[in-house]
Amino acid sequence: MTLLAARSHIATARAITILTGAGISADSGVPTFRGPEGLWRNYRAEDLATPEAFASDPRLVWDWYNWRRELVATKQPNPAHLALVDLERRRPEAFWLITQNVDGLHHAAGSQHLSEIHGNIWKVRCTGCGLVSDNRTIPLQTLPICLQCSGLLRPHIVWFGESLHEDDLRRCNEALRSCDVLLMIGTSGVVYPAAGFAAIAKQAGALIIEINLENTQQSSLADLSLQGRAKDLVPLLC
Ligand code: OAD
Repeated sequence: MTLLAARSHIATARAITILTGAGISADSGVPTFRGPEGLWRNYRAEDLATPEAFASDPRLVWDWYNWRRELVATKQPNPAHLALVDLERRRPEAFWLITQNVDGLHHAAGSQHLSEIHGNIWKVRCTGCGLVSDNRTIPLQTLPICLQCSGLLRPHIVWFGESLHEDDLRRCNEALRSCDVLLMIGTSGVVYPAAGFAAIAKQAGALIIEINLENTQQSSLADLSLQGRAKDLVPLLC
């Protein structure tokens, strides 16, 4: 399939679902997880992004998230984020965006039909009463405390070993089963459940288009794999 044909599929799709990963934010300067400058080259993910790590050393985990919050706070949405907002505005009823990114850049760009399935770095959740709140303080005090019940706050992020929130999973499944085009942008496709999303959409009959710098574990499912940067290819395609 050609780029032109893919454009026309997107323009005429009854419903389009988008799945994004760290690659779309790489063009805004946010490091990816598994690339050469991946965040976790220096920090082992399993040392930081797990409930066990937080239970044993919440200070270390918060230090890391404070560092990430500082980094992300200086970044802006790029043309790929903005092209998806345009697409959504043109066809709001036909559009759902699923992101694995926790940086909030899709939200900042203006996306509304959006599931942030791994959470959001600008939200905190109380480990005591469960209250979720927005929080943009940088840096947070080393061990932030809930104003409501004095419980310890944690990042509102889905960590390794945790399940996606049920509402998100239900919404994603609906969007994957009902779309006729799935556009995957900048994800290595190795972290479940998102790594299974292309297979769900494909089985339901969707056309799969992938944008990435390189081949991924999902490329064999794609009807069109476009290699290049998200900030160049997404505006071209949408
Ligand atoms: P990865 O770091 O695993 O993959 C990023 C992908 O983006 C790679 O396939 C790159 O080739 C591609 N890429 C890099 N720069 C790009 C660019 N400018 N344009 C297009 N593609 C580009 O990130 P994810 O797949 O998002 O989970 O990782 C999934 C999850 O793993 C993350 O959400 C995170 C991590 O564990 C949590 O934080 C819970």
